[in-house]
Amino acid sequence: MPTANRVEEARNEIALLANTASSARALMEGVCRLLNERMLKYNWAGFYMLEPGTEPPVLVLDAFVGAMTPHTRIPLNQGICGAAASSGKTIVVDDVRKDSRYLACSLETKSEIVVPIFVNGKVVGELDIDSHFAAAFGAEDQVLVQYCAEVVGKKLEQSK
Ligand code: SME
Repeated sequence: MPTANRVEEARNEIALLANTASSARALMEGVCRLLNERMLKYNWAGFYMLEPGTEPPVLVLDAFVGAMTPHTRIPLNQGICGAAASSGKTIVVDDVRKDSRYLACSLETKSEIVVPIFVNGKVVGELDIDSHFAAAFGAEDQVLVQYCAEVVGKKLEQSK
């Protein structure tokens, strides 16, 4: 199946899930499972959320699918994860070996995308996807992962 069709299908399933999930947590779990199952190069998918009230701020591992990572708590000045949360910008790394910020989760990981999640205009966490393939995240993937982060942000807003 061409990538465009795969992305389209995944997007439709995520939209359905966003409407039917009983909670933000259920949606987050569903997003991880769906992305990992449907998108062939998405080998690890997980959410890191900012721990409320912690100073200095720290990202804490939440729902995820894939191998357990040693990085369950990430300060904002560390990793691709910290960089995405502190800048509020999507970060795509085609070759993790060439990025000095990278914190290794699995030796198999070659590329990564991290997309911040906003609630009422503020970063509350992020969606992190790792791939065993170099440069796995093209423009279409970026749009898909950003869409997932957006629906989770909206669900979190509704549940407040
Ligand atoms: N690679 C991330 C750490 C999270 S693990 O990949 C799951 C980073 O550099 O921040």
